[in-house]
Parts: sequence; structure tokens; C-alpha cells
Amino acid sequence: MTAPLRPSEPVIVKVGLGDRAYDIVIGRGVLRTLGERIKALRPGARAAIVADASVARLHLAAVRGALAAAQVESSDIVVPPGEGSKNYATFEKACEALIAARIERNDLVVALGGGVIGDLAGFVAASVRRGLDYVQVPTTLLAQVDSSVGGKTAINSPQGKNLIGAFHQPILVMADTALLDTLPKREFAAGYAEVAKYGLLGDAGFFAWLESNWQDVFAGGPGREHAIAVCCRAKAVIVARDERETGERALLNLGHTFGHAFEAAAGFSQRLLHGEAVALGCVLAFEFSARRGLASADAASRVARHLAAVGLPTQIKDLSGPIPDIDRLMTLIAQDKKVKRGRLTFILVRDIGEAFVADDVDAGEVRAFLAEKLS
Ligand code: NAD
Ligand code: GLY
Repeated sequence: MTAPLRPSEPVIVKVGLGDRAYDIVIGRGVLRTLGERIKALRPGARAAIVADASVARLHLAAVRGALAAAQVESSDIVVPPGEGSKNYATFEKACEALIAARIERNDLVVALGGGVIGDLAGFVAASVRRGLDYVQVPTTLLAQVDSSVGGKTAINSPQGKNLIGAFHQPILVMADTALLDTLPKREFAAGYAEVAKYGLLGDAGFFAWLESNWQDVFAGGPGREHAIAVCCRAKAVIVARDERETGERALLNLGHTFGHAFEAAAGFSQRLLHGEAVALGCVLAFEFSARRGLASADAASRVARHLAAVGLPTQIKDLSGPIPDIDRLMTLIAQDKKVKRGRLTFILVRDIGEAFVADDVDAGEVRAFLAEKLS
């Protein structure tokens, strides 16, 4: 961890992937430099901006302006907001729009939005003309600390989330923290679950810092840049060591196996946002680890206390709508992509900041634990 930064200083985090290395530029107002940074990386390239309609209404003009200021020609493709746009139909529409706009191999895509747009536009960029460069301009907290970094791109199949996709790294990530000022509080809090996750999985000091400074992160003070930079540094290190998730990158899934099951049961809807499911999933991962004698009950309570303080769900009873039954939850957990040869793979913990991959978790033990939680 480093000392909090002054808001005027952009922080640059490097993702060290050899000839595919790129910068994550973090700071209030960094969007203004988007055009000149693109021009320096790809002189003469034209840009196709992909945005969702809500983000376009708020921020597209600024992005267009930043590109025009550096004489980067741009066109745009606006899709409906929400997870529903990570589908074949929107993917096709965006690909065809890029081709119609005569975007060539040496041009690029700018993904302007949250994780939905980053995943969709990144996959479009990976696919059109066998691979175009793309730049991530993440506009949600979740996207700034997680989805815009690391090159996972995808759309959903009717059979499951993120099943059609590619690893395709961006050439630049511009995380302008001022863009988060327009984000609804509920979306900000959901993204905060992914922020806390970095502390929980590998940085106890950062988690303690968040416990004392989370209000500043929410309020947009210097703590916001600091928190985003810490998360991006942590993710950059993991991605550089394990780009294709053959090992430690799986730690980033802390809270996701339990979380995905509840998110899927809620139909990937506004009833339970992804980050909210991750918050509940992190608490369950700590409680399950405590039940196995790996972590202390005190650590689990501390995690729940902090996430509840910021307004996130931490118990099954916090969820709105019908609660899924145990059979449905176990089916959803078994469908999760982290199942290998019938054994369940979970990210478990020994303490705050000490997560590890456990690939031998007995399904019966998980069922008994969830049955207790549901009772
Ligand atoms: P999102 O992209 O749907 O954005 C959430 C909502 O906020 C949308 O309605 C959007 O229009 C609105 N919004 C975005 N920025 C705004 C702003 N600045 N001001 C006002 N409104 C704004 O959701 P998300 O939570 O950012 O991302 C979730 C998606 O990310 C999921 O599809 C998930 O699978 C994916 N994801 C991908 C990775 C990865 O590594 N690729 C990691 C985590 C999550
Ligand atoms: N969000 C998990 C990953 O990027 O691996």
C-alpha cells in the first residue's frame, strides 16, 4: 500500500505483458488526455466508441471532444444499458456497425461504460477483422477496479454467463474517477464489493485502510484514487503472472462461487447486482472457511460488519424476492465454471488477506452449510 495520492496526480499502473503491456491511467480528469494518448500509441487510427445509452447521455460528448482535440476521428455505436446487451444480437449489431463505419485493422474501438460495455466491446474488438485494438474507458467502480483490466471479454449464451468470449487485452485503460460522480449510489456500492475483495484476498492492510476510509472513497476524495490504484496494481500483478487463469488469477473469484449462484437465481436482474452478490459471497466464503476450521469466526464477522456498513447485502435474509431453495442453489453452484471432475473449487481463506484456491471441496459440506444459512 502507498500513501493516498493528491487528486491532481494521475497514477499510472503498468500491466506487464511483454509486447502486449499497457498502462492503466487513473485520476480525476484524465479523460481529457484520451485523444493524445491514443494518438501517441496508434498515430492515424480512427476510433469507434461503443457506449450504452445511459453513459452516452452523460459522457459521450466529453469523450468525442477529447478525441477531436487530438484530431482522432471518431464514430459511435450506442446500445441499450444492462446485462441484456451482452447477447448475440447486440454483438452482431455492434460488429456490423464497425464494418459499416469502415473501421480497419489499424483503427480501434473505445469501450465507454461499465463491465457490460467493456466485455461486449472488447469481444467485438477481438472478433472484427480477426482482432482490433481497443481502449477501455471504464465508467463504473466495478469496471475501474476489475473488468477493464486483464483482457477477459465475453457475451452471455442462453445457457450461461460469459460463455462466449476471448482473452483480448486492451492497449490502454483510462480510469477517470470523476466519471464515477454520476454513478448511482447502489451501483457504486456494488463496485465497492470488488474493491474490498482485493483486501480480503491478499492485502489485510488495505482492508483495514478501507474500514477507516471508505466514506472518502464514496465521497470522491483522494481516497477514491488511492483505492482504485491499489486494486489495479494488485490485479496487474496477478494478470501479468497468470493471464489465462491457470492458477492464482482464480483468487480474483473470491466470493464469486456463492455469489454467482444467488445472482443466477435472481435472474441476473436489478434484484441483485453482481457486486452485491459478490459481497454476500465473500461473507459466505469467510463463514464457510470458519466452519471448516480454516479461519476465525471473528474474521468472518469483521468482513460482514464492514460490507454491511457500506450498505451491501451480507446475509441471505438481506435479499429481496423469493429465496432460492437448497437444490436450486446446489445446481447453480455445480454449473459454475470452477467445477473440476465433480469436485467443487472454491476460493477459501485462512484470514483477511489470505485467500487460497481449494479444489477439493465436498459438495455435501457446502450443502450442509447452505442449509444452515437458509434455515
Ligand atoms: P454495467 O456495465 O451494466 O453498469 C451498471 C449501470 O450503471 C448501467 O445501467 C450503466 O448504464 C450505468 N452506468 C455506468 N457508468 C455510469 C456512470 N458513470 N454514471 C451513471 N450511470 C452509469 O455493470 P457493471 O457493474 O459495471 O459491470 C457488470 C458486468 O461486468 C457483468 O456483465 C460482469 O460479468 C462483468 N465483469 C467482467 C469482468 C471481467 O474481468 N471482464 C469482471 C467483473 C465483472
Ligand atoms: N474478474 C476476474 C478476472 O478478471 O479474472
